[in-house]
Amino acid sequence: MHALISILTYFILALSANAGVTQKDFTGIGNIYVLNSNDWRTASPTADKIGCLNENGKLITANNKAACGTFLRSDVFPYTLSTKKGNCTFNDESQERNTDSKYGALDNAWNCNATYVSTIYDQLYTIDGFPYVFLCFGDVACYYDGKKAPARDERLSLWQYHWGSDQMGITPGHIQLLLVWNKIGELPKRKDVDETPGPRLRLTDGLQIPLLGQQKKLG
Ligand SMILES: *[C@@H]1O[C@H](CO)[C@@H](O)[C@H](O)[C@H]1NC(C)=O
Ligand SMILES: *[C@@H]1O[C@H](CO)[C@@H](O)[C@H](O)[C@H]1NC(C)=O
Repeated sequence: MHALISILTYFILALSANAGVTQKDFTGIGNIYVLNSNDWRTASPTADKIGCLNENGKLITANNKAACGTFLRSDVFPYTLSTKKGNCTFNDESQERNTDSKYGALDNAWNCNATYVSTIYDQLYTIDGFPYVFLCFGDVACYYDGKKAPARDERLSLWQYHWGSDQMGITPGHIQLLLVWNKIGELPKRKDVDETPGPRLRLTDGLQIPLLGQQKKLG
């Protein structure tokens, strides 16, 4: 009997350990940590952390925690992120382009902009079953592109990760990044709010989808 109870306890623990992230985990107010990793399955928020995003959405070192931006995830459509600087987007034409990249040369760096009105295309989302609250964009693309790890007092651009047949991995000389939500609080409570929707995708053991987004074509 005792052994049976231990076995049952073990299974319940194993199940809860495997349950992973749910949509509720990417809500409220949080920081966004940046990991240098090209594999979400082995990425560690402690060992691989190279910084965080500041209020402008730029990559900085996380040594000074206070400098990490405080992001709000809207609980109403279009469920986008903002800071006190404004709405955050990859669609701000005034931002640095990823000119080193073959497929991302026209991509603008992420920016939180006081005059920008968010659309559904600005939404980042997480996937049920992730081990941590990694943030993805577009068509199941969960990696980002940066020139390097930030040095003290540096503010670096963060781009979407784009690849294609002539550039199968990260932009040559750049680093491949993951974003992780570090929830620090809740939004002010409202009554009329539905559950924030996520993608229909759910990760289960053994599912080997790359989460690199769709292959791009030049031109
Ligand atoms: C906000 O976006 C507009 C349009 O791209 C741009 O002109 C402006 O400089 C941006 N503001 C900031 C603070 O980045
Ligand atoms: C940010 O985007 C939301 C959603 O589209 C919009 O309601 C809000 O007015 C925007 N904020 C600013 C400062 O433009």
